[in-house]
Amino acid sequence: MIIKLQTPRLILRQWQESDYPAFIEMGQDPEVMRYFPALLTPEQSLQFIEKVTRQIEQHGWGLWAVELKENKEFIGFIGLQPQPELFEFSPCIEIGWRLAKKFWHHGYATEGAKAVLKHAFRNLRLDMVVSFTACLNTPSERVMQRLGMEKVREFDHPLLPPEHALSKHVLYEIQRSDYLHIPFC
Ligand SMILES: CC(C)(COP(=O)(O)OP(=O)(O)OC[C@H]1O[C@@H](n2cnc3c(N)ncnc32)[C@H](O)[C@@H]1OP(=O)(O)O)[C@@H](O)C(=O)NCCC(=O)NCCS
Repeated sequence: MIIKLQTPRLILRQWQESDYPAFIEMGQDPEVMRYFPALLTPEQSLQFIEKVTRQIEQHGWGLWAVELKENKEFIGFIGLQPQPELFEFSPCIEIGWRLAKKFWHHGYATEGAKAVLKHAFRNLRLDMVVSFTACLNTPSERVMQRLGMEKVREFDHPLLPPEHALSKHVLYEIQRSDYLHIPFC
């Protein structure tokens, strides 16, 4: 069953064709992609959508497309993604987010991610959720901190050469036992 999550202002749902143009635009926006090694071509964005749509179909959860309740506008994605083997801390489940620029600084990423963590721990009964980002990506790290996640350590991304400016990453995690003690959950 495909899970749909709701927050006061957001709906997290399966992807639909009307999301594609806005997501392709995000992939070509140098500010949105500032902490990624490269912009995404339209083909790469469509491949990404295909992959995450399949993941949601198969498991019911994944990197959900996010829309505003007030006008149904697509704003980006927030959700969970398995990391089965790439990292030394794999296998694990990662929480992640990417919003179009005009939707930054409204609290949407944190609001959606709180609902995702609630689902991860209360319904999926995961033991732990991790998150990671380039050390330079302080906006994303701040979302992790607002969620009550704890910094574990820094690491070099295995797909980037160590001298690459984005190679150094921060790893955060939150355990179910700790999550259940956070007031907002
Ligand atoms: C990472 C990313 C999602 C963070 O977005 P964000 O808008 O900074 O984060 P939040 O949604 O938690 O919003 C918090 C901000 O909204 C403000 N805000 C405004 N109204 C708010 C409200 N009603 N409730 C909560 N916060 C609100 C907060 O004060 C805070 O402001 P600040 O950024 O000036 O400190 C965004 O920068 C992004 O999409 N970046 C590109 C993709 C990316 O790097 N993804 C991560 C890769 S690992």
